Amino acid sequence: AKITFITTDDENITLEADSGSVMALAVENGVQGIDGDCGGVCSCATCHVHVKPEHMSKTGDASEIEQDMLELDDNVNEFSRLCCQIEITEDLDGLELTVAG
Ligand code: FES
Repeated sequence: AKITFITTDDENITLEADSGSVMALAVENGVQGIDGDCGGVCSCATCHVHVKPEHMSKTGDASEIEQDMLELDDNVNEFSRLCCQIEITEDLDGLELTVAG
């Protein structure tokens, strides 16, 4: 699936992968603002993104644990997700995410 990241510098980066987490894809490719400090176990919120509103149905909602973590972060809104909790599948093709910084 192709996934586009819009960074805090307003750069658009489109990456492609078949599996793994969205966070891992971003970190491997050095997407600015996605650090993945906890390694993807939903305990750091350095992988916070805002899903494009019309793409929320692709990613689904955050789990309760994820929501609790998000609440601690600045800049949280109803489109917030921790992208280590989004598994890449073909269904995500075309997904756009804005790095929440
Ligand atoms: Fe730490 Fe996602 S990488 S919460």
